Amino acid sequence: MSQRIAVIPGDGIGNEVMPEGIRALEAAARRFDLKLDFRHFDFASCDYYLDHGRMLPEDWKEQLGGFDGLFFGAVGMPDKVPDHISLWGSLLQFRRSFDQYVNLRPCRLMPGIRSPLADRRPGDIDFYVVRENTEGEYSSVGGRMFEGTEREVVIQDTVMTRTGIDRVLKYAFELAERRPRRKLTSATKSNGISITMPYWDERVQAMAEHYPNVDVDKFHIDILTANFVLHPDWFDVVVASNLFGDILSDLGPACTGTIGVAPSANINPEHHFPSLFEPVHGSAPDIHGRNIANPIGQIWCGAMMLEHFGHEQAGRAIVEGIEAVLAAGPEAAPLTPDLGGKGSTSELGEAIAAAIRDGG
Ligand code: NAI
Ligand code: MG
Repeated sequence: MSQRIAVIPGDGIGNEVMPEGIRALEAAARRFDLKLDFRHFDFASCDYYLDHGRMLPEDWKEQLGGFDGLFFGAVGMPDKVPDHISLWGSLLQFRRSFDQYVNLRPCRLMPGIRSPLADRRPGDIDFYVVRENTEGEYSSVGGRMFEGTEREVVIQDTVMTRTGIDRVLKYAFELAERRPRRKLTSATKSNGISITMPYWDERVQAMAEHYPNVDVDKFHIDILTANFVLHPDWFDVVVASNLFGDILSDLGPACTGTIGVAPSANINPEHHFPSLFEPVHGSAPDIHGRNIANPIGQIWCGAMMLEHFGHEQAGRAIVEGIEAVLAAGPEAAPLTPDLGGKGSTSELGEAIAAAIRDGG
C-alpha cells in the first residue's frame, strides 16, 4: 500500500528546503521498500493569494482530505501579504479543520550543534513536548463590554473538556511507553489557576493508572521553564495545555541550537484526517533565493511523518542520516552557513540523502 503525501512548499525558503525533504524521503523509501506517492500543490502561498485573492481554493478540504500526510514548508511574505492573512488563511485552517489535536516537537541536541546552554552535549537533551492543540486557554469564548467607557471589561475563558484532555494525555502516555526512559512530565499551575488546572491534574492522575510502566511527575509551569534551562536532562515526554505547550515547544527546541533544524508535527492520531508536518522556522525572506537555507528542519519533518505512518525504522534512518552528516562537521560535510559551514541547501540535502541510502 502506498502513502499519499500532499506537498505544499508555501513561500520563501519553503520552496528551497522542500525538495531536500522529498529527496530524503525518497532515499528512505528506496532503502526500506516503501511506496510514497507525492502530489504537489501551489496554494497556501502568497503568490497564490496575489493571483486568486485567497490563500486556498474553495474546495481545499476535498482536495487534501484524502491524503495520509501534509508535508508543508512555510508560509508568509510580509512585504506582499500581511501575516495575519497568510497564516490564518492557510496553515491555521489545516490545523483546525483536520482536528490535529496533538502538536509534537522533539527537543534533541544533535551532534555538531552547540547548545546555547553551557556544557550540554548530544545525548544530554532528548525529549518531546506534546502540546494540546485545539482548546484550553486558546478559546474564543468571552467578549468585551462597555467598550470605551470607564466600565470597559474584557473576559476570555479557558475551555478544557474531558475528551480534549484525555485524548492528548493518552497520546503522551503512549509515546512515553514506547521510549526507553518511560517518563512523563505534566505542566500544571494548579496553585494559581484554581479550577481548570486542578482538573488537568486529576485527569493526568486518572490516566496514569492505565500506564503503570510510566513514571509520572508534574511541575508548575514557572519552575518547569526554569528546569528546561537548568536540567534539560530530566525530561523525556512533557505534556501541556495549549498555552503552556506553546511556550514550552519554543523553549525546548531553542535549548538545542539553531532554528533551522527544528521540526514539528500537528497530528490527528486516529488518522481520521491527514496530519501536518512542518519545520518550526518560517519563510525567511532575508535569505530566500540564495540556496543557503538549512534543510534539516524539513528533512526531520519527513522522519516524523514516516513514524506517524508506522514506518518507525525508516523514520529513524532519516534522523541517523542527519546525525551522521552533522557529526562529520563543517570540514568534512557541506553544512550550511547557520551551522558554521560553506555548503548550500542542495549540497547538504544531497549529503543527508546519501547517508540515508548508505545506512549507519
Ligand atoms: P523565520 O523563521 O522565517 O526567520 C527567523 C530568522 O531565522 C531569520 O533570520 C532567518 O534567516 C533564520 N532562519 C529561519 N529558517 C532558517 C533556515 N532553515 N536556515 C537558516 N536560517 C533560517 O521567522 P520570521 O522572519 O519571523 O518570519 C518570516 C515569515 O515567515 C513571516 O511571514 C512569518 O509570518 C512566517 N512564519 C511562518 C511560519 C510557518 O509557516 N509555520 C512560522 C514562523 C514564521
Ligand atoms: Mg509558538
